[in-house]
Amino acid sequence: MGRKVMIAVGSPRKRGNSSTLAAEVASGAEAAGAQVETFHLHGMDIKPCTACGGCRKKTHVDCVIKDDMQKLYPKLRSADAIVIASPIYWFTFSAQTKLFIDRWYGLGSEEGYALSGKKFAILLSYADADPFLSGAVNALRSFQDALRFIEADLVGMVYGSASEAGEIKKNKALMKEAYELGRKLAMD
Ligand SMILES: Cc1cc2nc3c(=O)[nH]c(=O)nc-3n(C[C@H](O)[C@H](O)[C@H](O)COP(=O)(O)O)c2cc1C
Repeated sequence: MGRKVMIAVGSPRKRGNSSTLAAEVASGAEAAGAQVETFHLHGMDIKPCTACGGCRKKTHVDCVIKDDMQKLYPKLRSADAIVIASPIYWFTFSAQTKLFIDRWYGLGSEEGYALSGKKFAILLSYADADPFLSGAVNALRSFQDALRFIEADLVGMVYGSASEAGEIKKNKALMKEAYELGRKLAMD
């Protein structure tokens, strides 16, 4: 059976640039035999972590909050590769993406994080032509720190500038990069 790739999209625009990059990664991964599932975080009920510590009690698996993260935890646990696609909002990744990532806290224990050893890829879209001025570098740095902390493997980052929904499609070189990243996630 092929690799399992989970894609989480953190933009409210279902046909936006992050979704476009995500779809291209999905095509590449599927063409290389992976099983891909994409989730649009916007519109899902994902509450903020309340720091209750319930997830650190042995009586609980994952998080005690009963919301849509309960559907996503098993997907995160069973995925071989996890892709996060986000627009840059105010010089970092979107709030939808942040809520999702905060709740990964529920996957941690004294033994480490359930996401440890998994492959990750990051896809970002932003308006400013300069990745430093846009905040994309800031977001990428946050992902690098977070993934190092949970001992996961960041295998690729695809990021580019676009404003209107779907405009990123015009950047053929970037689309190819996204497709190839999908193939890589399915094969490595
Ligand atoms: C609330 C908001 C904040 C934004 N902040 C930034 C920013 O800090 N830097 C930037 O370069 N673009 C910013 N943008 C532009 C988006 O990142 C850009 O349009 C991106 O391509 C949207 O991706 P999407 O189509 O996946 O939603 C912002 C857009 C919105 C709506």
